[in-house]
Parts: sequence; structure tokens; C-alpha cells
Amino acid sequence: MQLLSLPAVLSFLAFTTALPTDTSSKPLPLLVWHGLGDRYDANGLHTVGKLANKVHPGTYVYYIRLDEDGSSDRSASFFGNVTEQVAQVCEDIKQDPKLEKDADGVIRADALGFSQGGQFLRGLVERCDGLSVRTLMTFGSQHNGIAEFQVCGSYDFVCKGAVALVKGNAWTDYVQNKVVPAQYYRTLNETTGTASDEYLEHSNFLADINNERELKNVSYAAKISKLENFVMYLFDEDKTVIPKESGWFAEVNATTGNVTLLRDRPIYKEDWIGLKKLDKKGGLVFKTTPGGHMDLKEKVLAETFGEYFGPPGKSTVQQVLGAVENVFIEWDQEKLLDEPKGSL
Ligand SMILES: *[C@@H]1O[C@H](CO)[C@@H](O)[C@H](O)[C@H]1NC(C)=O
Ligand SMILES: *[C@@H]1O[C@H](CO)[C@@H](O)[C@H](O)[C@H]1NC(C)=O
Ligand SMILES: *[C@@H]1O[C@H](CO)[C@@H](O)[C@H](O)[C@H]1NC(C)=O
Ligand SMILES: *[C@@H]1O[C@H](CO)[C@@H](O)[C@H](O)[C@H]1NC(C)=O
Ligand SMILES: *[C@@H]1O[C@H](CO)[C@@H](O)[C@H](O)[C@H]1NC(C)=O
Repeated sequence: MQLLSLPAVLSFLAFTTALPTDTSSKPLPLLVWHGLGDRYDANGLHTVGKLANKVHPGTYVYYIRLDEDGSSDRSASFFGNVTEQVAQVCEDIKQDPKLEKDADGVIRADALGFSQGGQFLRGLVERCDGLSVRTLMTFGSQHNGIAEFQVCGSYDFVCKGAVALVKGNAWTDYVQNKVVPAQYYRTLNETTGTASDEYLEHSNFLADINNERELKNVSYAAKISKLENFVMYLFDEDKTVIPKESGWFAEVNATTGNVTLLRDRPIYKEDWIGLKKLDKKGGLVFKTTPGGHMDLKEKVLAETFGEYFGPPGKSTVQQVLGAVENVFIEWDQEKLLDEPKGSL
């Protein structure tokens, strides 16, 4: 994902270095999980990391990857068993000496997920013992799954290969074990309007982390309710995520277009994964940002990083807001190299 233009960021850096910074407490490290078709070493992704580091100087950014080779990491965003991928990431972060552990051996961090990386990070929050996340922030993610598979770019043969495998075979173990987007594909029962039997039976990833099956894993709910903030951004003109309201855990009737918001759904009302508890303490945040899928605005990122990331305790949001107001006038949307915009 090539997100931000360098000149705009540099101007921002020049400005923020003049900001008063609290040197007494170090910012929490930031885990970043990229989307489908992207790679951990992409310039755009690192520009976002640099921005986070400039808003809160000294932030250590860990770019989540399934392989040290960027091109293999990209393939792993299409192919693999997400259960195993999340488990591998959990082990990998524990091996990184720069992600310091506290006296209890726990890594404390913030987490930022783009598109499918958002629901995978949520899976990591729920399943990875030894990781305690303060803020989980997701952009254009598919927390309630996708109802349709995306259209791939003309020359994106890896993507086309993945979609071809899924066609008509989404619920086979073969596909659920190998094709990443199939593991958050979710269909509804036309009669009851709730999750289909096939999905509940075969979904390798989403039905589990959403605790949609009869047997609930109570530790998932405990982990989510322990977050301080879960900030969910939805792109208001997103045409890639179908339906886009998935980014807020909403349920959409594809025939009528009727949207049932999270707070009206059983996953919330019966608190299957701790979202209600988190909401009651003010930690559940629904946000929209203008534009299509992954149409990230530097100003939006800088402001929200200012508010939700950084040192433990008091945020420096007021300082950062003041800074970004002045800086982003020269923000040049045209310079964004947005090649994978159509990707989940
Ligand atoms: C619940 O999830 C945790 C973390 O992944 C796992 O260790 C545990 O075995 C799960 N419990 C059940 C009952 O599946
Ligand atoms: C995915 O991997 C997990 C862990 O190895 C395994 O239990 C599960 O059966 C795999 N899923 C499929 C659909 O093969
Ligand atoms: C969508 O809404 C229509 C009209 O209320 C209803 O008949 C249909 O069953 C619903 N479909 C789903 C999947 O909920
Ligand atoms: C839809 O729900 C009904 C009633 O629970 C069930 O009998 C039927 O098998 C379900 N169909 C699908 C496709 O899940
Ligand atoms: C939309 O769905 C909600 C929740 O199921 C329901 O209460 C409401 O009546 C529906 N609205 C329409 C216009 O169908």
C-alpha cells in the first residue's frame, strides 16, 4: 500500500519537532498489520509508521509479516491458514527484543490494522497470551466478514488465483485452510437472517473469533473488554468491502439494504466477545472517514494517532491537533500511489 507522499510527511516532521514532548514516558510500541495484496516492507506502509513515530517521537513500529521476504509476505495475505498465521505472529512478536515485556512477561502495545489486517489483529488480541493491547484501531476492516469476493486488478494473478479457488468451493476444508479471504467470508440464512449453517460449520477464522458458535471462548470476551479503545474506521464511499458496514460489525440485508447496527445484534447484546463491556466503559469508537477503500488522509491519521497512541496516560492530542491544522494544507492527494486501492 503506497499511502502517503513523502514531501507532505517531511513538512509534518519539520513542524512536529518543534512540539513540546513529554520525555518522561515512552510511547507504547505500535503493531501494524497490512491488508490483502500488500507487503510489510511497502513504502506506503512505512510512511504511516513514520507518521506515527513523528506524532509520538520514539514509537517503535513493528510491521507484522508472515515472511521476512516481502513478496512471500504478500502471498501470505492471499494464501494460508489464518489460525496458523495469527499463532505465528503471536510467537514472532515475543521473539522481538525491541517489544519489551513487563514484570509479568506481557508485551503492552497499540495496534493498527488496515483492511483484513484489522480483523487479524483482533484475532491476535483475542488469542495471543502475553500480549496486552491498549488501543486497537482498524481502517476499512471486515469484522462481520464479507458477503462477496472482490474483483481483482487485471494483472493481479495471485489475487485471481485466490478468487478462482474460492468460486463455488468456499466452504470446503481445502479452501478454508488455504485461501485467506474465504476465512472471513460470511453468508446469511435467508429465512432467519442470521449466520448460515455452512458458515457456522466451516468458517476457519471469523466464526471463531466472533464467538458465533454455540460454544463461546470466554477468554476472547475478556481480552476485548480489557482494551482501552477499539477505534473502527469505515470509509464512507467504500465499494470494495461488501458490505462496508462490516467495519463496524453491522449486519446488512443484501436484498433490502437494511443495516442492523452492532448495538442491535446478539453479538453485542449477549456480549459474545466483550464489545458491550468495552462500550459501557466508553472504549468502543465508531468513526467514518471520507473516500473509498483505503483512501487514507494524512491529516486523519495524524489526528487519530495523536489521540489514541503514544505514551501511557495523558495524550498530547491538543498539541497534535494544533500542529496538523497548519501543516496539511499542502497535502497532495494526487501523489498517493494508490495501486492496491481495490484490495481488502
Ligand atoms: C480459548 O482461546 C484461548 C486463546 O486462543 C485458547 O488457549 C483456549 O484453548 C480456548 N478455549 C477453548 C475452550 O477453546
Ligand atoms: C487451520 O489450522 C489449524 C491449526 O493448525 C487447524 O486446526 C485447522 O484444522 C486448519 N483449518 C483447516 C480448514 O484446515
Ligand atoms: C432481508 O429482508 C427481507 C425483507 O424484510 C427478508 O424477507 C429477508 O429474509 C431478509 N434476508 C436476510 C438474509 O435477512
Ligand atoms: C436456515 O435456517 C433454517 C431454520 O433454522 C434451517 O432449517 C436451514 O437449514 C438454514 N439454511 C441455511 C442455508 O443455513
Ligand atoms: C431493519 O432491521 C431491523 C433489525 O432487524 C428491524 O428492526 C427493522 O424493522 C428493519 N427495517 C426495515 C426497513 O426493514
